[in-house]
Amino acid sequence: MSTDIEKFLSSGKYKYKINEPLSKHTTLGIGGNADFFVEVETEEKLCDLLKFINKNKIKFFILGGGTNTLFSDDGFKGIIIKLLQSNNFNKIGILDDWKIVINNKDTELPYSEELAMTIEIISVAAAASLQAVVKQTAEQGLSGFEYLAGIPGTVGGAIFGNAGVKEWSISDNLIKIEIVDFDGNKKILEKKNINFEYRKSNLSNCIITRAFFRLKKTDKNDILNVVLHELEKRKLSQPIGVKSAGCVFKNPQNDSAGRLIDSLSLKNYNIGEIEISAKHANFFVNKSNGTAKDMLELISFVKKKVFEKYNIRLETEIRMVK
Ligand code: EPU
Repeated sequence: MSTDIEKFLSSGKYKYKINEPLSKHTTLGIGGNADFFVEVETEEKLCDLLKFINKNKIKFFILGGGTNTLFSDDGFKGIIIKLLQSNNFNKIGILDDWKIVINNKDTELPYSEELAMTIEIISVAAAASLQAVVKQTAEQGLSGFEYLAGIPGTVGGAIFGNAGVKEWSISDNLIKIEIVDFDGNKKILEKKNINFEYRKSNLSNCIITRAFFRLKKTDKNDILNVVLHELEKRKLSQPIGVKSAGCVFKNPQNDSAGRLIDSLSLKNYNIGEIEISAKHANFFVNKSNGTAKDMLELISFVKKKVFEKYNIRLETEIRMVK
């Protein structure tokens, strides 16, 4: 099969690597080799690749920014697909024809002149970095992304995981997305037909390629103040510039996983090279060459301790991929 995959990828002029270390593609810096690591430049190539994968029943995984993913030490026996962060998948733009986007009976927001004075619609490619969008929209006086300041990863990944801060999620300003389904067909999904929950969506059977957001025209300085405030808050309370995957666990209802773990005096507790951050107990830090095995052991250990003390079952926010 391996040779057939190679033949397909070479003849389709895909950008790919064989036996690519996944540790290079995750913020945790963990993961063995992927058989194939493909960076896709266009929607057409993505559709063709998915059709080939589907026909040949090949195992695959869609990787965003790798900020929330834990790959196995054994790597991945199949194809990792990543949308290339250039060209088509990385364009951010204010839509000239935005009236068309919202003057659609399927959306909850019909067009009006009054609305046009106060809002702008942006179109963002899924591989765009979330922080690039935060920066660009802030600079253009468009409010809606400022609370996401400091959250790493891509826009596609953020939508998939419904990223956000406590009271606010990326889906709040979303209008619709363009996707390619796993059969290799392009589709449009209106927000009302997507199920978003806290740090979760039902978008696991497709690849998001583009998203449209409704943003509010606001004073640029007000937005920049929120951005700076968010970044400062993060710098004070979270470990930055270290190898981590952000919060390991989702927050249980009305509580913080970090607070619960901290209350058990588990900061600095480690298994192998994986250590619970001294700054925020819901962040596990890979101190140098930590393994997925150690990470998983630490996750189980913490879950067990929190359950014993509080009778709460913590759920992981990071995605484990075998
Ligand atoms: N706290 C502790 N010890 C800790 C960590 C937190 O006592 O080690 C306490 C804090 O002092 C605070 C409370 O717990 O009183 C809540 O902490 P924080 O404000 O840091 O928020 P969080 O609930 O731990 C959530 C998100 C973060 C997001 C922050 C900022 C989740 C799982 N976490 O954290 O998101 O950055 O709010 O708003 O929803 C992520 O999703 O990867 C992530 C880091």
